[in-house]
Amino acid sequence: MAEFKSKIKPIEWIDTYTRMVDQTKFPDKYEYVDIKTGQEMFDAIKTMIVRGAPAIGIAGAQGVTLYAQELASKHLALGEFKKQLLEKADYLVSSRPTAVNLFWAVEKQKEIINKSNISIENLIDELKVNGKKIELEDIEINKKIGDYGAMVVPKGATILTHCNAGALATGGYGTALGVVRSAFANDPSVKVFADETRPRQQGARITTLELVMDGIPVTLITDGMCSYFMKKGMIDMVVVGADRIAANGDAANKIGTYMVAIAAKYHNIPFYVAAPLSTIDKNIKSGDEIVIEERSHEEVTVINGKRICPEGVNVINPGFDVTPHELIAGIITEKGILRPDYNKSIAEAFNM
Ligand code: MRU
Repeated sequence: MAEFKSKIKPIEWIDTYTRMVDQTKFPDKYEYVDIKTGQEMFDAIKTMIVRGAPAIGIAGAQGVTLYAQELASKHLALGEFKKQLLEKADYLVSSRPTAVNLFWAVEKQKEIINKSNISIENLIDELKVNGKKIELEDIEINKKIGDYGAMVVPKGATILTHCNAGALATGGYGTALGVVRSAFANDPSVKVFADETRPRQQGARITTLELVMDGIPVTLITDGMCSYFMKKGMIDMVVVGADRIAANGDAANKIGTYMVAIAAKYHNIPFYVAAPLSTIDKNIKSGDEIVIEERSHEEVTVINGKRICPEGVNVINPGFDVTPHELIAGIITEKGILRPDYNKSIAEAFNM
């Protein structure tokens, strides 16, 4: 399988801080911001300077390290240091509730805090190493997801995706767009249709940007157009990412994904979810248990600083929806493509 080299490095731990691409500035600017405190990391996750489930997991893990570095200057006893650090870790995960990767990665750091009976200095070193490891492993996991996914991409396929599950949503390479990258490396006639993804426009602002940067053909459509193009036979498959997948395969992803999955089913187009095992929450039986983030109403009422509707209108703005497992042809993971019955295939993947 040919390897695709991406130019994008969205998040990186550098010695004592995290450098990340500021995703709120796209498409006008592509610039980096250095995050040097735990509170800055909380704000970066909350305001979506960094976004995408695996990327906020990496950010969360490195945020714990930032808090540890700050607490070290207070010269606390080890027990008190750990207590305060665990409180900060719990605060960090409250920044965004839906993506399980944030909880997963912070939990990995908490395991280190809880087990360690070493000096504060060594504990911080372990947190640094682990935060970096989560960052680097994510890229390798994405490449495996990409290579498994590429096996089910037909020659010359047009792949529809929703939101951004790309390099910029991960440590690099991407999940759904990792599948695209690996498929494109073998077959340069593969192309992408990107849903705009209201209200934050991750498809228009982020997916198109990273595909253009990497030289992969992409066509931007608005969210309401997908069934039109499916009916015309212009979409061969759908691949999206996920923020949390239940034990039965129900998958939460950016609001609008469910609509795409229903349209794909109607038109007999395979709908795949690409995600690492760290996105699977085995503790929940179905998608009904997934907490859906409610976001600010201004994301709906205001576009580019201009109000688009009258004052006084009611607004609801859930950030995610849940696609029922029966609409999902396969879940592409680093351990292979999981197929229905998902209760069984997911359990088996964790035992591999
Ligand atoms: O609100 P966002 O931009 O963080 O939402 C991102 C998504 O829904 C992605 O599709 C998902 O996190 C998968 S990223 C590999």
